[in-house]
Formats: sequence, structure tokens, C-alpha cells
Amino acid sequence: MNPQVRELLNWGRTQLKTSESPELDASLLLAHVLGTDRLSLYTTPTPPTEDETARYRQLVRQRSNGRPVAYLVGFRDFWRHRFKTDPRALIPRPETELLVAKALEWAGNLATSSPIRVLDLCTGTGCVGISLALEKPDWKVTLADISWEALELAQENAALLGAKVTLTHSDLFQDLYGTWDLITANPPYLSPEETRSCLALGWGEPEIALNGGTLGTELLERLIAEAPSHLVPGGILLWEASPHQHRTFAMILDRLGLRMLGPWPDLSGNYRVWGMHT
Ligand SMILES: C[S@@+](CC[C@H](N)C(=O)[O-])C[C@H]1O[C@@H](n2cnc3c(N)ncnc32)[C@H](O)[C@@H]1O
Repeated sequence: MNPQVRELLNWGRTQLKTSESPELDASLLLAHVLGTDRLSLYTTPTPPTEDETARYRQLVRQRSNGRPVAYLVGFRDFWRHRFKTDPRALIPRPETELLVAKALEWAGNLATSSPIRVLDLCTGTGCVGISLALEKPDWKVTLADISWEALELAQENAALLGAKVTLTHSDLFQDLYGTWDLITANPPYLSPEETRSCLALGWGEPEIALNGGTLGTELLERLIAEAPSHLVPGGILLWEASPHQHRTFAMILDRLGLRMLGPWPDLSGNYRVWGMHT
């Protein structure tokens, strides 16, 4: 490795020692400034210029103030694709890939002869719905969100990745007409207190993407109660939430007489995705 590259990476790692992944963050930021990928940092023979060094130091400082790497570099890899990210929407999280995996798995149980119709509610960057549309180009995928800014970003991602999707503005199902075979949703599911702590850490993500109302489950309760009238018979709703919310879902589904699917754990072993079908 070029000695100056090594020195900058070491400096960055030290500055970011309180972040979750100092080494990864420093290498992503340096690779971004040098217009290369992380692995090429090991083989690049040329030292960074003064300007590149200054830009890198500036990004490391912003990161150490809490700014997420995905906002600093402008993208996040999710499923098989690279999604544009900026403060208009939540940064896609690795655990949300489970929602995509379960949607693909459960779609195999749907009894439909025509193209499967999918609604990705609370779409944000569009990472879930766009990943599904790219996996299954014959599906008819609609992306919906209450945030116009998020929808704009989802549209940009669909265009960048060449996904054929329809975008709609809606407060959950309020402005949506019709029924779907499969509905996916990763709604905000933090409590107001949890949301405040995250914002205080400088995440910079939109509050509307984090705050799920009282106990974090207000929006989810609405989602589960309203979904059956927007699903075809035998249709499936899959959603992401927090492990500790499991009892709330069990109670709501019981009250509505609906059968729970899952929950399924993420790679850290925490319940992350639940489902139900009509
Ligand atoms: C946790 S983010 C998820 C974004 C994306 N699906 C993902 O997994 O990265 C939640 C999204 O729900 C949207 N949202 C919040 N309240 C909503 C509502 N009442 N109706 C529709 N979307 C809503 C937010 O704008 C945000 O984009």
C-alpha cells in the first residue's frame, strides 16, 4: 500500500474510533475522494494530492460529528444494487434485505396466474420495491410514500437502475385504489424518544422516516388493520419492525382474526420481519 494512503487511513481510523466501523468508514471515504473502490486503495501506486487529502480530512471530520457515510459518499449498496442516498430518505439498512428475501420466497405461494402486483409502502429510496422489480421484471410494482422528497429520490433510483415501477404519493393506503397480491413495508418504527436520541446523534435522516408514533407502533397498527382490504384473497403483507414489538403484532392479528407469518430473524438473530395473509 502507498505509505501516504496508509497514513491517511490510520489517521481516519483514529479520528473515527468511536464510530461502529472506523476502518471501513475511513476506507470508504478515502476511496470516494480518490474516485476508486476500497480494494484498489491497497494497490494504487500514486499518493493522494493535497486537495484530495484536504477533502478526505473534511469528510472524516463530518463523519466524526455523526454524519452517516452513505450521505457523505452519496450511495449505499443494498441487495444486488447501488442506491443513491441523501437526506431526502432513510439510508437502506442491511437487515431490510430480509424483507426482499421473504417477499421473493412468499411470492412463490401466491395463487395468481397473471403478473404479480406488488405494493411497496413507505418506500423511501425505493430499495425494497426496486430490488423486487429488478429481480422479477414481469411483476407490476408500485412504490408509495407520504414524503414527496423520498418519492423523488425513489424515482431517481428507479431511473438509474433501469427499474420499471409506478410511483404514488399516499399516506399509507389513503390515496391508493385497488388490491395487491403482495404488500411490503418498512415503516418508521421508533418511538418519539428513540427518534429524538437518533437525531441528537447527528444521523441527519428525516424524522418522518424514523418516528412510528407512540411505542413506535402507531403506524404499524394502522398498516396491519388497513392492509386486508387492499389485498386479494390469499394476498400477503410483509413488514419490518423492531424485535420488541412482537407482542403488539401478535395481539393485533389475534384481534383481527388474521394468521401471523414469521417472525423471521435478521443476521444478528433478532426478529425483524413479520407477515400475515388474508
Ligand atoms: C423506515 S423508512 C423506510 C424506507 C425504505 N423502505 C427502506 O427500507 O430503506 C420509512 C418511510 O416511510 C415513510 N412514511 C412515514 N409515514 C408514512 C405514512 N403515513 N404513509 C406512507 N409513508 C410514510 C417515510 O417517508 C419513509 O420514507
